[in-house]
Amino acid sequence: MPSDQYQPLGGMSDLQPPDIRLWQHIESIGRSLLERYGFDEIRTPILERTDLFIRSLGDATDVVQKEMYRFDDRGGRDITLRPEGTAGVMRVIVGGGPDLAGAKFYYLGPMFRAERPQAGRKRQFHQLGAEAIGEPNPAADVECIALQLHLLNAWGLQGYEVQVNSLGDAEDRVAVQEGLRNELRPLLGELCPVCRDRFESNVLRILDCKNESCRKIVAGLPPISGMMSESSRSYLAEVTDLLGHLGIEARLATDLVRGFDYYAHTVWEITHHELGAQDSLCGGGRYRFDFGAKSVQGVGFAMGLERVIMALEATGGIPPDLQRRVQVYIITQDPAALRENLVLAQTLRMRGFNCEIELRPRNIKKQLRTASRLGAEWVVIRGERELNEGTFELKNMRAGIQETLEMPEMIEKLTSALSIS
Ligand code: HAM
Repeated sequence: MPSDQYQPLGGMSDLQPPDIRLWQHIESIGRSLLERYGFDEIRTPILERTDLFIRSLGDATDVVQKEMYRFDDRGGRDITLRPEGTAGVMRVIVGGGPDLAGAKFYYLGPMFRAERPQAGRKRQFHQLGAEAIGEPNPAADVECIALQLHLLNAWGLQGYEVQVNSLGDAEDRVAVQEGLRNELRPLLGELCPVCRDRFESNVLRILDCKNESCRKIVAGLPPISGMMSESSRSYLAEVTDLLGHLGIEARLATDLVRGFDYYAHTVWEITHHELGAQDSLCGGGRYRFDFGAKSVQGVGFAMGLERVIMALEATGGIPPDLQRRVQVYIITQDPAALRENLVLAQTLRMRGFNCEIELRPRNIKKQLRTASRLGAEWVVIRGERELNEGTFELKNMRAGIQETLEMPEMIEKLTSALSIS
C-alpha cells in the first residue's frame, strides 16, 4: 500500500472542521448577496459531454488542450469533469427556450482542471459564479463587477485590484487577430516556442504570456482597442465611465485577454497582491455562445473560493468566532438517567437549542471537561437523585453557578439566557 493512501489525490483537498466553518460562512454570505441582486441558484451536473466544453471554451484554449479531466464512460461516451461553470449553464439556457431569455443564475461548486498544483492552483477547486443572460449592455457589465466587489467586501477582503479590457465583438475579434498578427509577424523569431504556436491558433493569448521576452514584445504593441470598431470602443468607454460613476476604481489593462473563446466585449479580472503567481481572485466578462442555430449572450463571473480564503488569511480577514456553539451539554451519570436524558436532549433541540448529550454514562469530571472543551455555555446534570426528585442541576459554565430546578423553570431560564424565541 502506498504511504499516502489516506491522502486525497494531488491538487485536491478534504474540506473538514474547523476550516469548513469558514467555507460555510463565505457561502452563506455569497448566497444571500446573490439573491439580493436577483440571482437564483442553478445546479448543473459535474460531468458533461466533452463536446460542450470544446465548442464553448474553444478548441485551442489551454483548458481544452491540456487541462480537462476527460475520459470515456462505460458506454464509451466522451465525457469531461467540468473545468468551469458557464458552459453548463449556457446548455441549460439554450435547452430551456425563451423563458430563460433574461435569466440570472448563480452556482457554487467544484470545478476540475488537471493543472500542475501549486499555491492557489488546485486540480479540484471551488467557484462561486453567476451568469446574467441578456443583450450587450455596459450597465449590466458594470452591475456585475459591482456585485463582485460587494461580495469581496462582505467577506471582509480589502486590497484587491480590478482590471478591465474589451475584446470587441465577433467582427472585431477577426480584426484584432489580424492586427496582432501583423504587429507580431516581424518579431515571430523572438517569441517563446509556445507563443510561436499560438501565433496561428490563438494569437490573443500571446498577450498574457508570462515569458520575459514575450512580455517585452507585448509591452511595445499598440492596445487592441485601437484595432476595434468605433462602437466597441465606445462600449468600453461607457463601461469605464459607469464604473467611475459608481466609485469603482478599475485599471484599463490592454493586455487582459482571458482564457476562453466565448468572451466578447468587456472582460475583467480581480487580482490580489497577496496571492503570488496565481493572483486572480475572480474572472469574468461578457460572452456569446453559439450552439448551431441558437445563440446566448450574457455577462458573468466566477470567483475562486480557495483563493478568496487564501487572501483573507493573508490579510487577517478571517472572522475570529466561527466555531459551532454548544449551548447545552447534558451529563449522564447512569443508564437510567441516559434513557430520560435522551428525551430531554430531543426536547431541547426541538425548542431550538444546540444541545449535546453524553451517551456513555461515565465519570462526571470527565464529562465536565468535555463540556468545557466544547465551549458549552450550560450543563445539565441528572443522576439518580435528580431522577427520583424530578429535578435537574443546571450549571452555568462561565459563572460556575449551579442550581436545582424543575423542568419548566430550567427551560425558562435557558430560553431567556440564550434568547431562543
Ligand atoms: P476563470 O478565470 O478560468 O473563469 O476562473 C475564475 C476563477 O476561478 C479564477 O479567477 C480563480 O480564482 C479560480 N480558478 C481557476 N482555476 C483555478 C485553479 N486551478 N485552482 C484554484 N482556483 C482556480 C471562468 O471559469 C469563467 N467561467 C468565469 C466566467 C463566468 N466568465 C463569465 N462567466
